[in-house]
Amino acid sequence: MYLRSYTPVAILSTICGTTAQLVNPTNETFGNVFNFWSKTTDGWDLTRGNSTSAITLPMPHPAGNVTIQPASSALVIIDMQNFFLHPDLGGDPLGRALVPTTIDMIHAFRANGMKVFWTNWGLTDFDLMSMPPAFFRDFSSDGTSGSSLGSDMGMIQGNISVGRKLMRGSWNAQPFGDLFDEQVGGVANGTDFYFNKNRLSGMWGSSTPMQTFLQDNMITTLFFGGVNIDQCVWGTLLDAYYKGYDVVLVDDISATTSPAAATGMVDFNAALNGWRANSSDILPALM
Ligand SMILES: *[C@@H]1O[C@H](CO)[C@@H](O)[C@H](O)[C@H]1NC(C)=O
Ligand SMILES: *[C@@H]1O[C@H](CO)[C@@H](O)[C@H](O)[C@H]1NC(C)=O
Ligand SMILES: *[C@@H]1O[C@H](CO)[C@@H](O)[C@H](O)[C@H]1NC(C)=O
Ligand SMILES: *[C@@H]1O[C@H](CO)[C@@H](O)[C@H](O)[C@H]1NC(C)=O
Ligand SMILES: *[C@@H]1O[C@H](CO)[C@@H](O)[C@H](O)[C@H]1NC(C)=O
Ligand SMILES: *[C@@H]1O[C@H](CO)[C@@H](O)[C@H](O)[C@H]1NC(C)=O
Repeated sequence: MYLRSYTPVAILSTICGTTAQLVNPTNETFGNVFNFWSKTTDGWDLTRGNSTSAITLPMPHPAGNVTIQPASSALVIIDMQNFFLHPDLGGDPLGRALVPTTIDMIHAFRANGMKVFWTNWGLTDFDLMSMPPAFFRDFSSDGTSGSSLGSDMGMIQGNISVGRKLMRGSWNAQPFGDLFDEQVGGVANGTDFYFNKNRLSGMWGSSTPMQTFLQDNMITTLFFGGVNIDQCVWGTLLDAYYKGYDVVLVDDISATTSPAAATGMVDFNAALNGWRANSSDILPALM
């Protein structure tokens, strides 16, 4: 993914030369000179050669523990927005129940110098001009396109203007409950970063704001939570995996309104794509 000049495990002997080859390849190294993991005695080293301040996180058996580089790691919180969670909008109680644990994870990541990402629906009128029909259908509330993405959602509680459906800057697109203050404060402090997305995945297509940020900041290792586990969380995790990032699904900060089989599929495949853990596995190692 990136060429790091100091990589000790595998260095191109001649950059851009016809004799370029891997130096010191071993069967304990997986990947390529730009993007690699190394096996450790109890799991996997994902630091890609920068072991400064590395942290080992226990992962549930039998996945193998992971050693991560905090400066290259981020917590990705997906779609914990009023639109999906607020009770007055018919939001998901299972999603609301994740908030305290999600905040514990946010605080632990910040305390260890790991970035927090807010990856949320945040459409512009330009996005709507090229939005495919399936998306308008899926987000219609009355079967007509007039109630779909971009439509005015009116008022609730007599004084809250819900705003246009999932549009950037609207109240309905804001993080829900106590997460809103966390997001605003974290972004102001520079520990957190906010990324708008215009599909289920925050990493789709040739690039997105989140992907550009990952590349610019050499971030490789992503921990995922949010709603819905089988839709926007899964879509973003899977695209990140396709593009070469390390993916860890955090079960107890993820939920869905879909039938249990949908979570079963995600759980099975996320364990193959990367790792699955609960915050209770991770938090003690971050204290
Ligand atoms: C790597 O594994 C292959 C197949 O088991 C073996 O032939 C080779 O000698 C090993 N290479 C190293 C450097 O250990
Ligand atoms: C992972 O780390 C935990 C806690 O340090 C340890 O008990 C466990 O044995 C490790 N896992 C493996 C596969 O070695
Ligand atoms: C290596 O890790 C340290 C500690 O996390 C970080 O400050 C530094 O920027 C990293 N170096 C590179 C070249 O990424
Ligand atoms: C909105 O109305 C509720 C009572 O329904 C009140 O508690 C709240 O403070 C009001 N908010 C604003 C911003 O006026
Ligand atoms: C922002 O930084 C200040 C000063 O370090 C800290 O007291 C506050 O808790 C931080 N807020 C958030 C949301 O991280
Ligand atoms: C997370 O905890 C739940 C509830 O205890 C458990 O069912 C699930 O298997 C755990 N996930 C992992 C990856 O261990």
